[in-house]
Amino acid sequence: MNNEEQLKKIKEEVLSCTNCPLYKERKLPVIGQGNHNAKIIFIGEAPGAKEDATGVPFCGRSGDFLNELLEHINLKREDVYIANIIKCRPPHNRDPKEIEIDKCKKFIERQIEIINPKIICSLGRHSMNFMMKSLGIDPQPISKVHGKVFEKRRLFIPFYHPAVAIYNSNTKEILKKDFEILKDYVN
Ligand code: URA
Repeated sequence: MNNEEQLKKIKEEVLSCTNCPLYKERKLPVIGQGNHNAKIIFIGEAPGAKEDATGVPFCGRSGDFLNELLEHINLKREDVYIANIIKCRPPHNRDPKEIEIDKCKKFIERQIEIINPKIICSLGRHSMNFMMKSLGIDPQPISKVHGKVFEKRRLFIPFYHPAVAIYNSNTKEILKKDFEILKDYVN
């Protein structure tokens, strides 16, 4: 099966997934979007209200800022792949629970294997913790490691979540600066 077919299979599995209770309240699962052969994959946390209504990752306010960050380094959404660790929206945008992450992780793990990116970028603390565990990196606070490159089985770079930057201009500047490191890897 080629990448398209394999990712389509994941989509079908997510659409019929009842492994955790989140499927009951969500409108649409948010599976992932972008280039199926991307060199860079961005991994957010979980869908918000707008994502839940459309099925598109990062299409709300944090998505607008993510687009701005990509533009800042001359990338388009179509150049990268964007997904979340949790495919269904947690009620009232609460943080994903450990058990939900555990039940859902097989999907993001397979998406990473299929797309086979050079660089994995986490957006936010939860996806950073998830990726560090998955790659065998000792847990560290995001304030210490944001924008740093870890070389494990793949290159891994944790970033702050773009939502934090909406209300904090300081974080906005940090994120812009941190994203510049990706310029070294895209060409
Ligand atoms: N926040 C996330 O982490 N993911 C989305 O898709 C939207 C907002």
